Amino acid sequence: MRVLSGIQPTGRFHWGNYFGAIRQYIELQGNPDDALYFIANLHALTTVRDPDELRRLTLDAATDLLALGLDPDRATLFVQSDVPEVSELCWLLMTGTPLGLLERCHAYKDKKARGLTADAGLFAYPVLMAADILAYDSDVVPVGEDQVQHIEVCRDLAASFNHHFGETFVLPKAKILDTSARVPGTDGEKMSKSYDNTLEVFEEPKPLGKKIMRIVTDSRPMEEPKNPESDHLFQLYSLFVDDDARESMAATYRRGGFGYGQVKKALADAAIACFQQARERRREFEAQPNRVREILGDGAARARKKAGEVLLRAQRACGVKP
Ligand code: ADP
Ligand code: TRP
Repeated sequence: MRVLSGIQPTGRFHWGNYFGAIRQYIELQGNPDDALYFIANLHALTTVRDPDELRRLTLDAATDLLALGLDPDRATLFVQSDVPEVSELCWLLMTGTPLGLLERCHAYKDKKARGLTADAGLFAYPVLMAADILAYDSDVVPVGEDQVQHIEVCRDLAASFNHHFGETFVLPKAKILDTSARVPGTDGEKMSKSYDNTLEVFEEPKPLGKKIMRIVTDSRPMEEPKNPESDHLFQLYSLFVDDDARESMAATYRRGGFGYGQVKKALADAAIACFQQARERRREFEAQPNRVREILGDGAARARKKAGEVLLRAQRACGVKP
C-alpha cells in the first residue's frame, strides 16, 4: 500500500498543520517506497509570486518536516518540481478534463465568488494534483477534509483515462485525517494562515509565550465554573498533554476560581516542551542546508524512477509514444 501526500510551502507551519497533517504523515511512514511526501512548490506558485521567497519557503518546509521526524530512511521526501514527469503527465490528463469539473472545484469557485480573477494555474490546480497522485501509483492519500474534492477529481480523471485508453492508472483513496484535531487559532476560529490567528511550530519560546498570552478569552469572572469542552484554550492545551493532565485541567475549569493566565502559562510550558527536541534538530539541519538538499535530491531521484514508469505507461496508452 503506497501512501502519498503533498503540502504547500506557503508559510511557516503552524500547530494546525502539525496536528492536522504533519504528525499523521510521520505516523504513516514505514519504508521509502511506500510513503511519499512532497513539498508542493508548483501549487504554491499560484499564490507565492516572489522567487526568493518561494525558494526559502520550500527549503524551510523540508527542514521543518525533517526536524519534526520525517525520516528519509522510512519515507521519500522531495520537491514537486524536481519530478518533471508530473508536469508532463498533467498535460496528458488535462486533455480530456471537462471544464465543468474544474469550474465546480472550490479553490477556483471561491476566488471567482470573491470577484477576483483566477489564472489558468489555479483553474487547473486539481489536474496537477491528480498527476501528483497518479504518477506514483498511490493507493492512499492522507489529506484534510478541504482536499477531498480534489481526490474525487483525481479518481474521475483516472477512471475516464482508463476507460478510454485502457487500464493505466491506479485509483487512489482519500484518507481523511483525524478531524478531532481541528486546531483552533488564537481567536477561537480554525487556525489558518488566512485568518492571521496562527501559532507557529518553530516559534522561539519567548515570542511564543507572548502570543499565547494574547489568546482571546471570555471575560466571565474567575469564580464562575466553566465548560472546558467549548473553550479553545482548553482545546489547545489538550493537544499537548496526556489524559491525566487533561482531566485535571478539565476539573479546574468545572470548579471555577481560576484565571485564564494560569491555563495560558500551562499551555506555553507544554508547547515549548513538546517542540523542544524538534527545535534542536531544526538548528542542526539549518546549520547544514546541503544535507537537506542532498536528502531532497535522493528523494527526487527515487520519485522520478517511479513517475517515469507511470508516465511511459500513460504515453503509450494514449499514443504519444510507440
Ligand atoms: P492554512 O489554512 O493555514 O493555509 P493549509 O491549507 O496550507 O493551511 O493546510 C495544510 C494542511 O494542514 C491541511 O490540508 C489540513 O490537513 C491541515 N490543517 C491546516 N489547518 C488546520 C487546523 N486548524 N486544524 C487541523 N488541521 C489543519
Ligand atoms: N493541494 C494540497 C493542499 O493544499 C497540496 C497537494 C498538492 C497535495 N498535490 C497533492 C496533497 C497531492 C495530496 C496529494 O493541501
